[in-house]
Amino acid sequence: MVTEKDFVFTTTTHAVEKGNFQCSAPSNIALVKYWGKKDKQIPANPSISFTLNHCKTITKLSFTKKNSSITIGSTKEKFSFELLFEGKPKEDFKPKIQKFFERIEAYCPYLTDYHFIIATENTFPHSSGIASSASGMAALAMNIMSLEKALNPAMTEDFFFQKASFLARLGSGSACRSVKGNVVVWGKHAEIKASSDLFGVEFPSELHDNFKNYQDTILLVDKGEKQVSSTVGHDLMHHHPFAEQRFAQAHRNLSAIKNVLENGDLAEFIKIVESEALTLHAMMMTSLPYFILMKPNTLEIINKIWNYRNETNIPVCFTLDAGANVHILYPENVRDIVLQFIKDELVGYCQNGNYICDAVGNGGQLIIDN
Ligand code: DP6
Repeated sequence: MVTEKDFVFTTTTHAVEKGNFQCSAPSNIALVKYWGKKDKQIPANPSISFTLNHCKTITKLSFTKKNSSITIGSTKEKFSFELLFEGKPKEDFKPKIQKFFERIEAYCPYLTDYHFIIATENTFPHSSGIASSASGMAALAMNIMSLEKALNPAMTEDFFFQKASFLARLGSGSACRSVKGNVVVWGKHAEIKASSDLFGVEFPSELHDNFKNYQDTILLVDKGEKQVSSTVGHDLMHHHPFAEQRFAQAHRNLSAIKNVLENGDLAEFIKIVESEALTLHAMMMTSLPYFILMKPNTLEIINKIWNYRNETNIPVCFTLDAGANVHILYPENVRDIVLQFIKDELVGYCQNGNYICDAVGNGGQLIIDN
C-alpha cells in the first residue's frame, strides 16, 4: 500500500538553477460527492468524478535558485513567490498558495531553495462561480512535479502523476481528481482496486460507450461570491446528525455507479447522480448552522429538466456542486437536441444568459518544459 512516506522527496541527482514550466489542468464534476473530511485533507467518504475538457487553469511556473547572500523579493520569508493572475499581481490568492506550500513542504523540501513566479489564468471567467481551486491546484501540482522530475529525472511517469494528485489534494481535496484520467476515484473503496484516501486513481474498468465524450453544459445561475465556502461546509459534517449515514451511502452509491459506468445503464446513472446532488445540498440544509446555496433559478432548471425528461425520455440529468450553478449531463448522441432544449427553455434562468459547453476530458498536460 502506498503511504505518505512514499511521497517524501529524497534524491536530487541533477542540479537545476532556473527554468520554466507551463501546465494546464481541468475542472472536474463529481458524480458521487466528497463532502466532509478528516485531518490532513483525508476524505470522509470516497468520491468519483468526470474530468472536464474545456474549463481549465493554465499555470506557468518560473523559478530561479535563491542565492543565499541575496534576498529575492521583498522579504526573507521561507517560501518566496510572486503570483500573477491574468498577467497582473494578485495578492488575495497568495495566502492559499502560502498554505499549500506549507502543507507540501515535508514532501517537496526543494521548494524553499527557489524563488517562484506563478502566472495563472483560467479558460472560464473567474466570476462565473465555477470553482477554480480544483483546476488551479492540480495545474500548480503538475508544475511542481515537473521541477521535481528535473531534479530527479529517473522518476517514473506513474509516480509523477500519483504524487501530482497527492500534492493537489493537499491544496484542495477535489483537485486530486483533476490530474489524470477521464473518470477518477478518490478515497478508499472496497471495490475500486488501488483506491486511496491520499490521491485520485483512474477508474479501473472499461468505460461503457454511452459515457464516452459525455457532455456537461454548465448553466451559470449565480456568479456571486458564495456565502459559505466549501471548507466551512466540509467542517460542518463533523457532528452532523446524518454524517455516518451519508458516508455509508456514498460507499453504496460508488459501488452502484461503478456497475453503471461499466454496463451503460443511463436510467440508473441518472438516479444516482441526481440523488447525490440533492443529498449534498440536503447536508448543507441540515447542518448547524444551516445554509442554502441553491437559488430559485436552480430549482426552476431542475423542474424543467424533469419535465423534459418525462416528456421525451431523453436521458438528460443534472448535478450540482457547492453552488447555485447547474451541470447538465447527457450522452453525446443527444447533444444537438439537448442543446436546443437548453437554448429554448433554460438560458432565461442563467445570469446574463451565460452557459459553458464542456465534455469529459483527460486531465492535466505539460505544455512547456524548459
Ligand atoms: C461539493 O475540494 O473544494 O464540489 O478540500 O476544502 O478544498 P477543499 O474542498 P473542495 O470541495 C468540493 C466539494 C464538492 C464535491 C466534490 O467535488 O466532490
